[in-house]
Amino acid sequence: MADEKNNHKQTEDQDMIKLIDNLNRKEDVGLNRRAFLKASFGATVAIGLATTPFGIFSYMRSEDGSVKRVEIADVKDLDIGESRNFGYPTKEDPAILVRTPDDKFVAYNNKCTHLQCPVFYEHKENILLCPCHKGYFNVDNGHPMAGPPQRELPKILLEVKDGKVFAVGREVRHG
Ligand code: FES
Repeated sequence: MADEKNNHKQTEDQDMIKLIDNLNRKEDVGLNRRAFLKASFGATVAIGLATTPFGIFSYMRSEDGSVKRVEIADVKDLDIGESRNFGYPTKEDPAILVRTPDDKFVAYNNKCTHLQCPVFYEHKENILLCPCHKGYFNVDNGHPMAGPPQRELPKILLEVKDGKVFAVGREVRHG
């Protein structure tokens, strides 16, 4: 009789252990599902950001916080269809200023985004040309049009004031 009671007690204990085990497993599955969903969401956001083209404007600031201007040229010294090389943000960062046929000023850092050769303005075709492997860029927005380059030229923000053209910042582009 005592043996039967003992056996019954042991069976009850084992059932209880199994029940607790099952409860723990259910919690684990819940936690794993939550962790998986969080990781999936994070990965989706990261991939979305990495593949969406966008640009961030970055103005150069003086120590007092005002926009720092770097003079490039007098408006009167650059005719429509002409270009001028300069350095920005430092003299070691080659850049090109173009006065376009529709009388707008545009500027880009002019290291080709393929293999860093210098890019020139070809005024007859109104394009920016990299002669190394015939890379073509749109002069209005710096986007690659033909040849090996896949990324835009970094755009330089300009300001025309008191008859002079200034570089005031850069657009860091992604995508
Ligand atoms: S370096 Fe410009 S096209 Fe190759």
